[in-house]
Amino acid sequence: MNMDGKTVLVTGSTDGVGRYVAARLAGAGAKVLIHGRDSARARTLADEIRRQGRGDAVFYAADLSSLAGARGLAQAVLADHKRLDIFISNAGIGSQNQGPQRQTSADGHELRFAVNYLSGFLLAYLLLPLLKASAPSRIVNVASLGQHPIDFDDVMITRGYSGSRAYAQSKLAQIMFTIDLADELKGTGVTVNSLHPATYMNTTMVRAGGITPVSTVEQGGEAILHLAVGEDMAGKSGLFFNGMNEARANPQAYDAAARKRLRALSLELTGLPAT
Ligand SMILES: NC(=O)c1ccc[n+]([C@@H]2O[C@H](COP(=O)([O-])OP(=O)(O)OC[C@H]3O[C@@H](n4cnc5c(N)ncnc54)[C@H](OP(=O)(O)O)[C@@H]3O)[C@@H](O)[C@H]2O)c1
Repeated sequence: MNMDGKTVLVTGSTDGVGRYVAARLAGAGAKVLIHGRDSARARTLADEIRRQGRGDAVFYAADLSSLAGARGLAQAVLADHKRLDIFISNAGIGSQNQGPQRQTSADGHELRFAVNYLSGFLLAYLLLPLLKASAPSRIVNVASLGQHPIDFDDVMITRGYSGSRAYAQSKLAQIMFTIDLADELKGTGVTVNSLHPATYMNTTMVRAGGITPVSTVEQGGEAILHLAVGEDMAGKSGLFFNGMNEARANPQAYDAAARKRLRALSLELTGLPAT
């Protein structure tokens, strides 16, 4: 992997698998835009990257539980960089972070839908001009095997809420968006794929759920890197991977009408123009 001259944004890279991926990409020569909310953790990672003597790290703080936070992050990246070769949408909260009760974002949306899906949707669209100008370029949406169909009559899960349903709904939304966006980006040189990195890696969100880890961060990180830089992935788009292997997602992902509804809703909630 030679990443000299490449610029990569990894959201949620102050911790967990995103941190591993950011360090690996910088180690291969990339300028990595690291992102999270905690500047102390970001500084530790940036110092680690500089000590490796390859690549570089620039930290962007943004809280993705507000659409303004996502917009601010995109604006800063667009203002500071002339290219963006890879965007890894990885930031997320698990089913149990901050407790089992239903929570809402700054914009009043169900919190997991907002952080795990909607902010990544908005970021992808705002960063597209730079990604297109840097083509061939790639988007990787870090989703999960945990997937729950979206009930379009109650997307914000005001009834029958559980953290695991909310998490799984947000992860399927990412996969549906991936398929939809891949179609839209045909011929632009920008590809987009999604994946389940690995099952129960030893990360903060897994520990917060009281779950005993069964995979390593390295396993999941290598699966993300495969989609981000793997030569065999060149030109491939709209796919879902379970680790290193292509896989089928929940049937709703292949329902064009459901994807169209999700897209219309997402454009409306983020205030992006309908295309
Ligand atoms: N762990 C697993 O086994 C597993 C399995 C399948 C899929 N995944 C997916 O892999 C991705 C990474 O998960 P992980 O296990 O590495 O999690 P993690 O260790 O808990 O790290 C999550 C990252 O997301 C950031 N983040 C969380 N909420 C945020 C917010 N409101 N605004 C901005 N940044 C926020 C965190 O930043 P702070 O440092 O500021 O908290 C952190 O950098 C997630 O999308 C997750 O759904 C994980």
